[in-house]
Amino acid sequence: RPRVLSGIQPTADSFHLGNFLGALRQWVTLQDEFETFFFVADLHSITMPHDPKLLRERTLVSVAQLLAAGVDPERATIFVQSQVPAHTQAAWVLECLTGFGEARRMTQFKDKSAKGGEGAASVGLFTYPILQAADILLYRPQYVPVGEDQRQHLELTRDLAQRFNSRFKKTFRLPEPYIMASTAKIYDLQLVEKQMSKSIGGSGCIWLLDDPAVSAKKVRSAVTDSETEVRFDPVEKPGVSNLLNIHSALSGTDIDELVAAYAGRGYGDLKADVAQVVVDFVTPFRNRVHELLDDRSELEAILSAGAERATEVAQATLRDVYDRVGFLPRA
Ligand code: TYM
Repeated sequence: RPRVLSGIQPTADSFHLGNFLGALRQWVTLQDEFETFFFVADLHSITMPHDPKLLRERTLVSVAQLLAAGVDPERATIFVQSQVPAHTQAAWVLECLTGFGEARRMTQFKDKSAKGGEGAASVGLFTYPILQAADILLYRPQYVPVGEDQRQHLELTRDLAQRFNSRFKKTFRLPEPYIMASTAKIYDLQLVEKQMSKSIGGSGCIWLLDDPAVSAKKVRSAVTDSETEVRFDPVEKPGVSNLLNIHSALSGTDIDELVAAYAGRGYGDLKADVAQVVVDFVTPFRNRVHELLDDRSELEAILSAGAERATEVAQATLRDVYDRVGFLPRA
């Protein structure tokens, strides 16, 4: 069966609605048709200063959230990135194939290092996309379900795969990004031109594990525009269009149908309904996560089996990689 792989960082106490609609939801649906590998990218979470105790806790809470979202350990391989050493080993080889300028062009590095200046950023933040390429290529997946912000990293991944294949021998499969157009980029509810993100957080970000009443309030305070008509127009009406997108994705109602239903009604009605749809989603999600966290040994057992299976696959690819670059095998 063709494969699908994706990862998510455990950088906050909770995933947000953008993570769920942009990526996680697709992970769940792809399980039916593909052999799937999903992991918590803890190695990626130490590229910025972090608290070790929090990281450990968030890693486990992340796993609980994957399960609550519907990732099924019976069908998917669920693992923690740092438990599969082949990722960092392959990353080194790929780093040696990456141009300095090529890595510097990554917009996420530019954004994330913008605050303290490039000099304050870690080298890990700089090489982060190459580790991501290793994460992906080791599993030879056909699709990588992600949000729009990861597209550039996927392009680098394909470039590196192609370069390795042509310089040595065909080893990697060129993966394709799997990006759902309608939810590729969920926007911040306050800064409507920015994508909802863990780093901005605040009142424009819906955290899946927040008190649902808090999330409802954030939706009701979402920034819209000075008109009154509910219309889908992402350029002229980014706030309203984002709300329509969120509603549509969570309720399964077409945008056109929603727009028709709000004819002659104001933004207040739209916000109240989106708030309700969000509450209806996060309430059971959050309860399920808390239930799952009651039995941590169960989560650990899933991860242990996952690491074993992932290692099997990744290690086999790494063996090819090492062989093809000319490393002497241990006798
Ligand atoms: P991360 O943890 O930032 O985000 C996880 C997933 O959520 C998507 N996403 C969004 N989608 C729509 N709207 C938004 N506002 C939004 N915010 C986030 C992201 O695109 C992502 O799919 N580098 C990755 C983790 C990673 C990875 C990998 C992914 C590491 N190795 C290998 C795929 C394959 C990251 O930081 O995602």
